[in-house]
Amino acid sequence: MTVYQKKEVLLQASNIQLQYGDAPILRDINFCIKNIVRPGMLQGQVVSLIGRSGIGKTQMLKILAGLQQPSAGSITLFGNRPAQAGDMGVIFQNYYLFYWRTIYQSLLLAARQNPLLKGKEKETVEQYLSNFGLLSVKHYYPGQLSGGQQQRVSIMQQLLKGASFLLLDEPFSGLDVCVLDKVIELLLQVSLSDELKTLIIVSHDIQHAVAISDTVYILGTENGQQGATIKKEIDLIERDLAWHSDIQRQPAFSDTIEEIKHLL
Ligand SMILES: Nc1ncnc2c1ncn2[C@@H]1O[C@H](COP(=O)(O)OP(=O)(O)OP(=O)(O)O)[C@@H](O)[C@H]1O
Ligand SMILES: [Mg+2]
Repeated sequence: MTVYQKKEVLLQASNIQLQYGDAPILRDINFCIKNIVRPGMLQGQVVSLIGRSGIGKTQMLKILAGLQQPSAGSITLFGNRPAQAGDMGVIFQNYYLFYWRTIYQSLLLAARQNPLLKGKEKETVEQYLSNFGLLSVKHYYPGQLSGGQQQRVSIMQQLLKGASFLLLDEPFSGLDVCVLDKVIELLLQVSLSDELKTLIIVSHDIQHAVAISDTVYILGTENGQQGATIKKEIDLIERDLAWHSDIQRQPAFSDTIEEIKHLL
């Protein structure tokens, strides 16, 4: 068992409610992401919110990003500071890219917003383009790329900006298996780049979400009530399903996947 501690609160969602007219979409959502600390290791956090299509994942992500006002409740960061738009890098389901800039120009612009990359913006962008298999199309405009390629540019753009919190909406969809493995590896690397770096993934892809996360929240409806809430928190570290490479081959992995399927 890996030695670790959960320390100070990085993000707290308190009693979030979201209603459109009479229709409750989200209710009583409470969760807390703490800084995970491991001796001798830079360790970020990777949290997934898993739920069926239409359950309210994207709405929850927009609330976290400060882009959607909840009907009630609050998101606070680092103790008690209210979260604001701009605190988090967001990678949406539909990738919003500047269609009038080449992807290289867009990525360089993102890198220049990150003080940690000062003086090495260009080489970092080249490195990312190479890792994501997009070097040969770097002078293309987004309109000349496939959906999966646009998604990778969108992910890279937010990674380069360097925000502590990264929100990813369905990051595994639209990727072929080879690229998928690379993206997962890169996201894990990013999560390890900084103690406070926290990835929050919303997805209906149970397998990949579990494979990459330390904690999973299941979003669903309960007891015939309207509106989705967190039905269960699964601590994957406790199950020894975090931070090693052969997680998907562990028997506990398939058990967890089955358990989640039944909860959805
Ligand atoms: N502006 C709106 N007005 C009314 N209802 C809305 C609005 N936006 C979203 N909804 C409703 O909120 C619910 C949740 O939508 P959301 O996009 O969060 O689902 P999701 O879990 O992300 O689904 P998917 O996996 O398909 O992306 C849906 O029932 C949707 O119809
Ligand atoms: Mg969605």
